[in-house]
Amino acid sequence: MIGISVNLAPGHKTIMHAFQHCIAPLCQATFDVGDMLTSCPDCGNPLDISYEWDKLPIPRSLREFEARWSTRRNPVDYSGVWRFRELLPFAAEKDIVTIGEGQTILQQSQTVGRYVGMNPGSLFLQYEGLNPSGSFKDNGMTAASTHARMIGAKVAACASTGNTSASLAIYASTAQLFKVVVFVGSGKIAYGKLSQALDYNAKTLQVLGDFDDALERVREVSGERGIYLCNSVNPFRLEGQKTIMYRVLESLNWQVPDWIVVPGGNLGNSSAFGKAFAELKHLGLIDRIPRLAVINAAGANTLYRLYEQHDVRWDGGMLDESPIDSFFADMDSENRKASTIASAIEINRPVNLKKCLRALETCDGVVRQVTDQEILDAKAQVGAGGFGCEPASAASVAGARQLRAEGVIAPSDRVVCILTGHQLKDPDATVAYHSGNKALFAEKLGTRGVESAAWANSPIVVENNLRKIIEVLEQ
Ligand code: F0G
Repeated sequence: MIGISVNLAPGHKTIMHAFQHCIAPLCQATFDVGDMLTSCPDCGNPLDISYEWDKLPIPRSLREFEARWSTRRNPVDYSGVWRFRELLPFAAEKDIVTIGEGQTILQQSQTVGRYVGMNPGSLFLQYEGLNPSGSFKDNGMTAASTHARMIGAKVAACASTGNTSASLAIYASTAQLFKVVVFVGSGKIAYGKLSQALDYNAKTLQVLGDFDDALERVREVSGERGIYLCNSVNPFRLEGQKTIMYRVLESLNWQVPDWIVVPGGNLGNSSAFGKAFAELKHLGLIDRIPRLAVINAAGANTLYRLYEQHDVRWDGGMLDESPIDSFFADMDSENRKASTIASAIEINRPVNLKKCLRALETCDGVVRQVTDQEILDAKAQVGAGGFGCEPASAASVAGARQLRAEGVIAPSDRVVCILTGHQLKDPDATVAYHSGNKALFAEKLGTRGVESAAWANSPIVVENNLRKIIEVLEQ
């Protein structure tokens, strides 16, 4: 395909070497970047954004991106996403919507490294909770908002377990380019996240159902009303999420780690990471690809069961879909619903399943499941040794620990765990764990809680009296 002439919103006509591309090898249909699509109209499979790399200006080395640190007063150079714009070249610079996302850091953690069982200096945490809305979603939402602006969208929507809605709402409130409606399940949304959507003035629908229901409904509504959909079925969003991996490489002085460990919910991140590495390798910008570990919560373990128990594989795109179909048919007939304290990843029907299977093939990946107990214990270690994270994010650390115990990860491997969301997103889970408050677990988090809180740091109640306080401090 040659450069596409795209008919975009008035004043936005441009020529690009980017196009939308069906991921199914037997279809491979292409569509221009001016179309609003969330699946292939020909066969229903997910879409990628593909590029004619040979017609685009690609840096000879990833180090060239570092020069942008000296021009950080330019918003697109300041952005931790658009700093790498040559690697997601679907937008003209003037269309980019940025709020300074991606100023996130990779930190070595001795505390968490010890907990996981690594040699000193081998365990790294990528704190994506440091984004403007407090989660990794901003990496994707800046890209989706940019595309929404390119095509002149007036209303954008998403279904969410909380972070996607917070992220979409912050972009809408700051850019003032489109209105927003967010669909959340009526159950377990953490208040930190719900409060953001409300405060950013997003129209917020609490659908009487869970996340899987809310996503189905928002896809229907968006299709019927021409609303711009910002869930990770939107291939432009995932382009932005690739940059998390670029920043990890940058922090490691452009050396490729041995493992990337990431929580798996709707499987957008894992899909984006696989695409990022496949492209970097294709462009000769890295010489090897790290291994990928995707970690499900045990109460929302569709990927784990399909990949590790039913051996479902991408197979170069020749995926046998029958085990997947019968898995979901059984799920429906048994009315199985996802259930975990990690409400962000309480998802039974991951929409990016196929892309994630492709990423697992690209990255020689593995999938594991971790219990709520393991998640909350790991979360306490992340907090005790650093900036903290929300429960879903700690699944990556719990998963790394399991893989280390199995010997799949070696103690000398360089391991990067992605911490997807900020600690303050879900303070109830933190307080319930540390204070052993069963009522809080039951009433606000809808779970029985954990059997033991090995790392609990309980608040100490003390009389309002100087002597008593000193007595307690000296104990
Ligand atoms: N971690 C956090 C903190 C999340 O909010 C999510 C997804 C994930 C991990 C899973 O990422 O979908 O790329 O596998 N949250 C979505 C939401 C579903 O609506 O905020 P994934």
